[in-house]
Amino acid sequence: MILCSNPKAQYYSYKDEIDKAVLNVLDKGWYVLGDEVSAFEKEFSSFVGVSFGIGVGSGTAALHLALAACDIGPTDQVITVSHTASATVSAIELTGAKPVFVDIEKNYYGLDASKLESVINSKTKAIIPVHIYGQPVDLDPILEIARRNNIKVIEDCAQAHGALYKGKPVGSFGDMGCFSFYPTKNLGAIGDGGIVVTNNEELSEKAKLLRQYGWEKRYISSFSGWNTRLDEVQAAVLRVKLRYLDADNKKRAELAKMYDQELSGIDLSLPLTRPNSTHVYHLYVVRSKQRDRILKFLGDREIRALVHYPVPLHLQPAYKKLVSNNTSLRESELAAEEVLSLPIYPELEQSDLRLVCDAIKEILQ
Ligand SMILES: Cc1ncc(COP(=O)(O)O)c(C=O)c1O
Repeated sequence: MILCSNPKAQYYSYKDEIDKAVLNVLDKGWYVLGDEVSAFEKEFSSFVGVSFGIGVGSGTAALHLALAACDIGPTDQVITVSHTASATVSAIELTGAKPVFVDIEKNYYGLDASKLESVINSKTKAIIPVHIYGQPVDLDPILEIARRNNIKVIEDCAQAHGALYKGKPVGSFGDMGCFSFYPTKNLGAIGDGGIVVTNNEELSEKAKLLRQYGWEKRYISSFSGWNTRLDEVQAAVLRVKLRYLDADNKKRAELAKMYDQELSGIDLSLPLTRPNSTHVYHLYVVRSKQRDRILKFLGDREIRALVHYPVPLHLQPAYKKLVSNNTSLRESELAAEEVLSLPIYPELEQSDLRLVCDAIKEILQ
């Protein structure tokens, strides 16, 4: 079986260091919000090139806390895309705010800034661009529109650790950046984890209190918060893997280049990289009107390709209520019908990648 992603293979790449780091935490006996978390917060925020990092329980929690730190609440609206993980929208709903969808760009799958102003109104308080598949959204026009309208920008970087937009890492552009460390991510924990990063000290302090009951001092809540803390074992593992993240992203890019070469010249759209950006290939996503046929054929050959995502959020039972009639989400709908994620992870053998390509060529002949 050729898997689409493979966290176990990554564990085996760094097994000795990971085992040592985990045992060290077990032996220290301090398991939540300790030295490992503080050190990881410093190391990861420095990797992103920002001043502050707040380790939390998941990527969803990171988005929720970032929105809450920006005082987004029940009377507000937050703009994002429908072509994303459900988590982006569930985080908005956790604040009580209303998610509002805007369509994506056909070629890069990110929020289409040219459609943004048509959905902004007096209730709009934040925009969440999602750097989907490992590719930065075109941030400059979004940041400009946000600044002009006094709207916060919270970057969803769950799929784009280390991706650069105009030479700078994603997560360093908006008011806050949110990352997930779900095991299959480019930087993955051995369970759930996430982080909020920012250059804004006030927002960082607020997020820090919110992750632990709003406690300013132990047992004294300044305002209501939650419990969503990164634990020491996850932080210790993430510290090991962070040291290899650039090298792992490079391996993903090399594999993507191989796919580009092997799959060129057949009737299949290959992923495009926006000029001025680097793609970290969390997913290698091709596009075809025959997607379902290819998916089945690969499955029959024991090749696990996946669809991210098969139904855009605005067509899902939970979120149908959010759609307004005057917004077209046509590109999001088309993408859902045609995209296919091929296996990619740093340890993927080149021979396996060729098997994937041979199978695709065979069915498309
Ligand atoms: C784009 C996007 N946003 C948010 C999340 C939420 O992250 P988590 O699963 O850690 O809550 C994910 C991960 O699934 C994601 O892919």
